[in-house]
Amino acid sequence: MLLITMSFLMKVIAFVILFLMFVITTESAPESALITKLPGFIGIFPSKHYSGYVTIDKEHGKNLWYYFVESEMNPMKDPVVLWLNGGPGCSSMDGFVYEHGPFNFEPGKTNFSLPLLHLNPYSWSKVSNIIYLDSPVGVGFSYSKNESDYITGDMKTAVDSHAFLLKWFQMFPEFQSNPFYISGESYAGVYVPTLASEVVKGNKEGLKPALNLKGYLVGNGVADSMYDGNALVPFAHGMGLISDQLFENVTEVCNGNFYANDTPDCEEQLAKVSMDIDRLNIYNILEPCYHGTLLSAFDIKSLPSSLLQLGKTEKPLAESEIGRWALSTGKLSFHHDAGSMISFHQNLTLSGYRALIYRVQETQFLSTNRGRLWISIADF
Ligand SMILES: *[C@@H]1O[C@H](CO)[C@@H](O)[C@H](O)[C@H]1NC(C)=O
Ligand SMILES: *[C@@H]1O[C@H](CO)[C@@H](O)[C@H](O)[C@H]1NC(C)=O
Ligand SMILES: *[C@@H]1O[C@H](CO)[C@@H](O)[C@H](O)[C@H]1NC(C)=O
Ligand SMILES: *[C@@H]1O[C@H](CO)[C@@H](O)[C@H](O)[C@H]1NC(C)=O
Repeated sequence: MLLITMSFLMKVIAFVILFLMFVITTESAPESALITKLPGFIGIFPSKHYSGYVTIDKEHGKNLWYYFVESEMNPMKDPVVLWLNGGPGCSSMDGFVYEHGPFNFEPGKTNFSLPLLHLNPYSWSKVSNIIYLDSPVGVGFSYSKNESDYITGDMKTAVDSHAFLLKWFQMFPEFQSNPFYISGESYAGVYVPTLASEVVKGNKEGLKPALNLKGYLVGNGVADSMYDGNALVPFAHGMGLISDQLFENVTEVCNGNFYANDTPDCEEQLAKVSMDIDRLNIYNILEPCYHGTLLSAFDIKSLPSSLLQLGKTEKPLAESEIGRWALSTGKLSFHHDAGSMISFHQNLTLSGYRALIYRVQETQFLSTNRGRLWISIADF
């Protein structure tokens, strides 16, 4: 009798301990993912940083990599923002290093020394919790053991990033009730609305955890092949890069349609436009464009070497799986299979999600004008 009671009691205690362990391990961020130092940075991080892999498909060994920076203000209340660079194929460490991450990188004194990291006073982490995600697998530090996963497209990427989010918010449950935003730039103009739609669908289906999506941000984004493709000629003219005469000619022979217009006369005039803007920096016409042996924006040599060292620190990354880390990979066979983003934007905004579509005005072939038109067509 006593024995039975004892064993029952032991079971209860064991269960309680297990339960506590479960509660402890699921109630807060995984300590093993905590980052407390980076080469080149002296001092204490102004907020907690985490990094690691989330396995979204065990069978395939499909792993998405993230770097998470907690808000430096009030992490428990501030929004959680997912950041995605575009490509397709660009690592979101692009945004972390060059755009709005917690550090500014001061180049090393010699070619081989590490850069010095200083705190960035304009980091988005000043006011929000940011998840930098390398997506889809094959990009940045994200990888799959089954290389067939590198043949992918818009919809698969959205489904996978959604699977990542569900797991990530399980690992970091204390952030489940924070307002959640999805953001990105360039080709992420496709990633963001397609992922937001997956999240909305998942919430409707009652998937757990429910994601507290409030809205999304797209910077210099891709939206619609026709509107985007038609924007270049008027932009080049507006910026004085092509003559009035050429603009009039091209508009006339192409009948105002510069996208996928394969009449020979139109092609001939478009070739003249291309010649006039050849070798300009398409990201910013005011910036020099580096040619030949010099560095380009996507040249790995232009990156802080500490990033290339990441796989060699005490917490080795899966270097054997990913090969050498690249800012923008050519490994993917990527299909733009989601079509125009206009109806995604319409549906999301009509459902009450907040949208911020922003563009760097006047300097980018990739952005100017293309937003203006479709935004007015979509009737926002
Ligand atoms: C650093 O790299 C540049 C460009 O590759 C090269 O011209 C220069 O000689 C290098 N300097 C040293 C000290 O190795
Ligand atoms: C990779 O995935 C594909 C598609 O699911 C499957 O047909 C193939 O057998 C897998 N390859 C390996 C090596 O597991
Ligand atoms: C515009 O078209 C006219 C007539 O075809 C041609 O003479 C002229 O050279 C063209 N101008 C430019 C800038 O292409
Ligand atoms: C938008 O909503 C309409 C009406 O419910 C639906 O037919 C359409 O498929 C939706 N589009 C997208 C991209 O979700």
